[in-house]
Amino acid sequence: MRRAFMAAVPIVSHFKCRAPNKYPGAPKTVARFPVPNDKISWDVDYSEYKPPSYTSQHVIGAPWADRDVESSDLCFKFNQVDGKVDRRSFMGSYRVVDGIARNPIGRTGICGRGLLGRWGPNHAADPIVTRWKRTASGEKILKEGKPVLQFVAIQRKDNGEWAIPGGMVDPGEDVSATLKREFGEEALSCLELSAEDQEKIKKFVYNLFEHGEKMYEGYVDDPRNTDNSWMETVAKNFHDETGDAFNRVNLRAGDDAASVSWIDVGHEMKLYASHCDFLSRVATLRKAYY
Ligand code: BGC
Repeated sequence: MRRAFMAAVPIVSHFKCRAPNKYPGAPKTVARFPVPNDKISWDVDYSEYKPPSYTSQHVIGAPWADRDVESSDLCFKFNQVDGKVDRRSFMGSYRVVDGIARNPIGRTGICGRGLLGRWGPNHAADPIVTRWKRTASGEKILKEGKPVLQFVAIQRKDNGEWAIPGGMVDPGEDVSATLKREFGEEALSCLELSAEDQEKIKKFVYNLFEHGEKMYEGYVDDPRNTDNSWMETVAKNFHDETGDAFNRVNLRAGDDAASVSWIDVGHEMKLYASHCDFLSRVATLRKAYY
């Protein structure tokens, strides 16, 4: 039985979260402190390192976010399930320095929470829904001798980049519920169909979501990461081999998305955060063009 395909091998690139341009959504004055490749590791001395601290006004006091360090007694239960908030990392136990979690991969050039709600890991889930690209008569389309996969992508409203329609795991929520919920909210709409047809489609899609293959779980090279807050995700592939589940479903962008579309999978894609890495794993698993 094929299980958790390559999920245990971490993707730990650390580029987008060190990019020298300003932090997303932050005032012009907030720039990441430069972190050369050989200074990423916390174990390497970098005495000049003086990262600015930034936490977005959208995060401070938000009901979905942690309390701020200044206004709290710093009693977060890091590396544990803290009430309903899972503060464990897929990367193993991370360090807690002066009462605050420390990025397990290394320096990012900025401290505080930035745009992220949680100190420590912020857990997301990414549903990678795929089908084969076909001609009008139903033949699989080949490229360099291999069939071409397509996946459901959304265009993010925050930065215009194309991405998997993922989202944050709610406190206490099971990841499989997040995968289904986010896909429904961000990419799916069957509003124009009759109630009966809607029911049929829901069944098809829910059935598809029963049989996902885990592609990855772990740290993500996300542009929002900081020295104290970072994204982790569980990415699962839901493959519609025959195309039946989706050929009558209209994709429609939800609240967080500017648009939604089937996109051909291949090395030419430019996607948000580590999403290209996840898709390349799916292509390997399905023996598809990449
Ligand atoms: C996105 C996911 C992404 C994660 C980490 C979340 O906000 O919805 O698609 O994988 O961040 O970058």
